[in-house]
Amino acid sequence: MSDQPKLVPGLADIPVAESAISFIDGKRARLEYRGLAVETLARESTFEETSWLLLEGALPSQRELANFDSELRNHRRIKFKIVDLLKCLPEAGHPMGALQAGVAALGMFYPACDVSDARSNWDSVVRLIAKIPTIVAAFHRLRRGDEALPPRDDLGHAANFFWMLTEQEPSPAVARVLDACLILHAEHSMNASTFSARVTGSTLADPYTVVSSAIGTLTGPLHGGANEEVLDMLDEMGDTPPARWLENAIATKRKIMGFGHRVYKVKDPRATVLQELAEHVFAESGKPPKYELAVDLERAAAAQLGPKGIYPNVDFYSGIVYQSLGIPRDLFTPIFAISRVAGWLSHWLEQLENNRIYRPEQVYVGNHDMPYTPLEKRP
Ligand code: SDX
Repeated sequence: MSDQPKLVPGLADIPVAESAISFIDGKRARLEYRGLAVETLARESTFEETSWLLLEGALPSQRELANFDSELRNHRRIKFKIVDLLKCLPEAGHPMGALQAGVAALGMFYPACDVSDARSNWDSVVRLIAKIPTIVAAFHRLRRGDEALPPRDDLGHAANFFWMLTEQEPSPAVARVLDACLILHAEHSMNASTFSARVTGSTLADPYTVVSSAIGTLTGPLHGGANEEVLDMLDEMGDTPPARWLENAIATKRKIMGFGHRVYKVKDPRATVLQELAEHVFAESGKPPKYELAVDLERAAAAQLGPKGIYPNVDFYSGIVYQSLGIPRDLFTPIFAISRVAGWLSHWLEQLENNRIYRPEQVYVGNHDMPYTPLEKRP
């Protein structure tokens, strides 16, 4: 039927909201958070300051930042019943499942159903940003049979997460790199998990449900789950020369994990910064062979995939950085969530200012006027 709307697979290039939070120029490898270049923020800012920038729309004053930082530190602890919940989950389960369960449960302890209440909304924003790292670190330690570690109020957001995970205080260089990684992953306009957050938020669901929905979406290997898949892919390459491995992968129509992007048709600017950060870490921990392999694969892909606008994205080097910090592979995507919760909540708050429930259309391709055949007359 010609009067049906035209389907656009994956809503490619279809605007679904007006937003002032971040801007991407996919041809010039530009990413700005509230107008500030992400490279500058990764170099000069902290995750706490960047989160405020995303949420509030401007860099915080010294007092605003001090108060926000203090609020986050005061809300890092989780109820013992959440810890008990995490203890009941299967050790072999993926940490993203534990995180999604933990965040959904958080919403039961801190009811926040009246999303017209700005104070309640802000309290939820603080609790979610502050407690998600604690949930991730607690599940990781519990699954290994260790007690969950209480947060340390004397450490910043990134350093405290590293402490809760490893029971080691990170060196200033490691803390800086981890903080920069959190900044780089915090926001990226209308990506799938942010869109998921917006759809859930548009029904006026509470913020814990919104974030739980976004966590589920981020889990997929085409989205946040790619950073873990990249390491598996590099492992699988073994001693095969990257160019030969790539030729075979392309011939078998395989998606190269960590490559390609719906918006970037050049190298993701975050991948470039992550490479620079990797060099900092390697200065302390030594350059892992996997990094050289990744660089060789990128070089080989430039010739074969570059002409199609397929270049490394944020996930290509992030896993290598995290692995060099001694972070287990299945925690790479939870770290993405620890960071992206700032972006999800920024979009949630922005949308509430002029909310309308998402209810798109479809192109119906099914039947009409079908008869009902009684069961006894069916085969
Ligand atoms: C993130 O949206 C965001 O902003 C996401 C993110 C964020 O910060 O939130 O940036 C984070 O999710 C990064 C992406 C992580 N995912 C991966 O690395 C998985 C591998 N990448 C691909 O699956 C793909 O590139 C996507 C999912 C990222 C983008 O998919 P699109 O835009 O739907 O592109 P497509 O799958 O339609 O591909 C278009 C063409 C196809 O070839 P043709 O059929 O036209 O011949 O490009 C090819 C694809 O086969 N292609 C790839 C490829 N990515 C696209 N071919 C090989 N390897 C790839 N990685």
